[in-house]
Amino acid sequence: MSYETILQELADRSLLRRLRSIDAVEGTRLELEKTSLTNFAGNDYLGLSQHPVVREAAIGAIDRFGLGAAASRLITGTLAPHKFLEEQLAAFKGTEAAISFSSGYAAAVGAITAIANRQDVVILDKLAHACLIDGARLSGAQLRIFPHNDLSKLREILEWANEHYPSAKIWIITESLFSMDGDYSPLSELVGLKDEYGANLFLDEAHATGVIGPGGKGLAAHWGLNQRIEVQMGTLSKALGGSGGFIASSRALIDLLINRARSFIFSTAPPPAIAAGASAALGIVQSAEGERLRDDLRRNIDYVRHGLRFSLDALPSPIIPLIIGDENAALEAAKQLQQDRFLVPAIRFPSVSRGSARLRLTLSARHSSEQIAALISSLQRVFPGS
Ligand SMILES: Cc1ncc(COP(=O)(O)O)c(C=O)c1O
Repeated sequence: MSYETILQELADRSLLRRLRSIDAVEGTRLELEKTSLTNFAGNDYLGLSQHPVVREAAIGAIDRFGLGAAASRLITGTLAPHKFLEEQLAAFKGTEAAISFSSGYAAAVGAITAIANRQDVVILDKLAHACLIDGARLSGAQLRIFPHNDLSKLREILEWANEHYPSAKIWIITESLFSMDGDYSPLSELVGLKDEYGANLFLDEAHATGVIGPGGKGLAAHWGLNQRIEVQMGTLSKALGGSGGFIASSRALIDLLINRARSFIFSTAPPPAIAAGASAALGIVQSAEGERLRDDLRRNIDYVRHGLRFSLDALPSPIIPLIIGDENAALEAAKQLQQDRFLVPAIRFPSVSRGSARLRLTLSARHSSEQIAALISSLQRVFPGS
């Protein structure tokens, strides 16, 4: 089949993507193809990508080390900003050690393929992010999927795994705050269950990092469970406002990743400026200013949920999905919102399952109440009855 035919088929099913250019970004506004829009699409939940202290830290590192890291860390060594960042990340997550990767995707794929192999069993939540699925597939382990957050089904799979693979290492892999549905995993129960069956937990806190828990330390810290989770993953690319991913765990597991994680070994280290910026962001996240930003974010979340007549959640989530179903209808809704000068993306297969297309609205501490009020009235026009 020609490339053109494949693309045409995607277009016929309302699944074709194209890139649009952004010419300027200022706070929560951006200029997309010559139109100024309020951005309700990003994951910069605390607005730290633009924070002056974060910018200055990155610029300082460029002045000191230049732009690129020039080689992988096993070839040349670890630059000071990476070392400092990883010490900070281990303290943030309450673990012996941490290691950073050039993206969250690389962290997931590199770590999962290093810790699981053909003799092992990996059990994934149905809504786990593509990088977790790809890592699990590439590891060659026996794969099982449990319906989203369904712990009774997970228990059945754990029983099956213990019976059929008694000597396997069993990994449960899930997220703490789900990227496309904006809900949290039932972490306390999940940890209890994995302990009962002698399994291990790999928890991706990409969206919860900076957003929830004391000092923004994530859902594991919110429930005081850090010490009972074998692998904690996070990204520097969402509330921390930069880019890159990390794994926090025991010293031995991190040393294993240094020796086995191919996306770490065979890839140039991330730019030192990124590590320095992330360190500054981590400092802010844990400070009184970080608390204030989380309060602002929560206020914005409650404002939108109240405005859309959704119930207010005990655990605030900055990701609010408005499920539409049909792919074309979701695209149409996003287009109408864009006419009102809001960027709210339509999320379609394969990012979500077929027929569950949606608008994915994400909030930042930096959105003003005027911007949110305007969005709510636009949504009420696009979805009468909301
Ligand atoms: C849950 C989850 N994990 C991992 C990633 C990958 O992180 P990164 O964008 O840093 O590669 C993302 C987002 O892209 C995500 O939503």
